[in-house]
Amino acid sequence: MLMKDRIALITGASRGIGAATAKLLAEHGAAVAVNYNNSADAAAEVVKAIEAAGGRAIAVYADVRDQSQVEAMVAQVTERLGPIDTLVVNASIQFPMVPFVEYPWDGFEAKLVGELKAAFFSCRAVVPSMLERGRGCIVAVSSGLSRHPGPGFCAHSTAKSALDAFVKSLALELGPQGIRVNAVSPGLTITDATARVPEDRKQMAARMTPLQRNGLPEDIAGAVLAMASDLTGFVTGAYLPVSGGSLML
Ligand SMILES: NC(=O)c1ccc[n+]([C@@H]2O[C@H](COP(=O)([O-])OP(=O)(O)OC[C@H]3O[C@@H](n4cnc5c(N)ncnc54)[C@H](OP(=O)(O)O)[C@@H]3O)[C@@H](O)[C@H]2O)c1
Repeated sequence: MLMKDRIALITGASRGIGAATAKLLAEHGAAVAVNYNNSADAAAEVVKAIEAAGGRAIAVYADVRDQSQVEAMVAQVTERLGPIDTLVVNASIQFPMVPFVEYPWDGFEAKLVGELKAAFFSCRAVVPSMLERGRGCIVAVSSGLSRHPGPGFCAHSTAKSALDAFVKSLALELGPQGIRVNAVSPGLTITDATARVPEDRKQMAARMTPLQRNGLPEDIAGAVLAMASDLTGFVTGAYLPVSGGSLML
């Protein structure tokens, strides 16, 4: 029960890494807010699974790129569960996967701005109440591609690098107030986001990974739990690759 009496908001928790994280934090005692944008039914299923396992959860709508929707969501979570002490910035902002020379500026801008709005608005909405209580924990889900780019991923790599810098900036400013801010950085992980990656590319990635497989949402959730719990109480501003060793810093 590493998250006993905690109240956690996980953005983009209707599917994939966010859903696995919501379930794991709830299993460890947190009351969990499952944010969704388009997948209301999937979010309801995550809540149902948490409740069936004896946990406490609610589903909350917001497009995390919209400040007023994020503020309304945080107000709703605070009213229904209590003040948020754990925020997981996870929602997956979509992007076109094309070579740089073909990259449309609109798509590049939408990814860059969307990724940062999602992080900025959710942190801005929860940090004031963390400051009031002198404690809190933020975990942002980055990507190994922020440190090791791949062809076609220039928008994603640039956006996640900016997210990494944002994490370090907040860690620096908010540390004295008892708020920890860290990044967890998945490698290739089997979710809807990677469903269109050809099977042979997934197998090749697994062969090139020291632990010889692709990541699963539960692998990333475990690292988020570690970063969110007091076990890492003296860790802030960190970047934790969760990639079976495919990214070593
Ligand atoms: N999978 C990988 O290989 C991998 C690798 C490195 C990093 N990551 C990072 O891990 C995180 C989770 O990715 P994933 O693979 O779990 O993605 P996923 O399975 O495609 O799930 C995406 C989640 O994000 C939510 N979402 C998307 N846009 C949103 C918005 N504007 N507002 C609120 N929620 C939104 C979706 O909600 P709805 O369905 O309700 O719209 C869904 O719950 C992302 O930050 C991603 O960049 C993933």
